[in-house]
Amino acid sequence: MLRSCSMTELNNKKIIVTGASSGIGQEIAISLANAGALIIATGRNKSRLHHLQKSIIADGGRCSVYDLNLSNYSEIKSFINFTKKNFRVIDWIVNSAGHIAKKETLQNAELTVRVNFLAPYYLIHLLLPFLNKEGGIINISSTAALRSNPTFPVYSASKAALHVLSTALAQRPSSSPCFTICPGPTNTPMREKIAGDAASKQGPEFISRCVRKIILGKSRYQNGDIIVVRDRQEKILSRLPKKI
Ligand SMILES: NC(=O)c1ccc[n+]([C@@H]2O[C@H](COP(=O)([O-])OP(=O)(O)OC[C@H]3O[C@@H](n4cnc5c(N)ncnc54)[C@H](OP(=O)(O)O)[C@@H]3O)[C@@H](O)[C@H]2O)c1
Repeated sequence: MLRSCSMTELNNKKIIVTGASSGIGQEIAISLANAGALIIATGRNKSRLHHLQKSIIADGGRCSVYDLNLSNYSEIKSFINFTKKNFRVIDWIVNSAGHIAKKETLQNAELTVRVNFLAPYYLIHLLLPFLNKEGGIINISSTAALRSNPTFPVYSASKAALHVLSTALAQRPSSSPCFTICPGPTNTPMREKIAGDAASKQGPEFISRCVRKIILGKSRYQNGDIIVVRDRQEKILSRLPKKI
């Protein structure tokens, strides 16, 4: 399952990847494990998490898994305690987990906001004291946040809130660097669920490649950048001005 690689580039880096049980998060976890990082993979689906862990370990990588429902604050706090106790310092967090309701209603709006915005906020806030300053945060937003999608107004708004949060955090002098990636339509189960056309879209490896370049320090991206990855192309959508 792991692609050919140098297994040493990210040695000793401890990286949390949420939403690692599927799609983009899974691809990110594999790609970073492939470069030598110790992955702390979260999701709700235990069997998919264990499958991921087994395949990473079988290919010589390192992976710890934790089943975590991001809509539940007390589960997030328990995860943070687990992380502190077992790993002490974390180098990077990649917030890839996301939720979209096939049909948005008043009843499911809160869940969307909890998973897409509040959970990354809680995780970042609680992790900051033991996040390596030379590491950072990568939030996976969406192009739906930039061109509001009329079918998914709550999803679009929750993702827009996430990138506003990212750019706010990026301006804090004492904070770790914070990047936002906005994927366009991508071939994952989420895309298939809402549009049924996933097979014709860019693969999740286009997003994981961008994440990996940022973490390896091999990209032109800077703290606070919002990066769009759409139709297999990367571009910087916005960059923090030097003085605001
Ligand atoms: N695919 C696209 O076209 C596209 C485009 C733009 C942005 N995005 C964003 O990219 C990210 C990854 O999405 P994807 O396309 O890879 O979707 P996916 O294959 O459906 O994966 C979503 C991931 O989020 C996790 N998740 C969902 N609800 C959760 C909850 N309550 N608690 C914990 N984990 C939860 C899922 O884990 P469990 O099921 O195990 O809980 C799964 O690992 C999302 O933030 C999404 O909004 C996707």
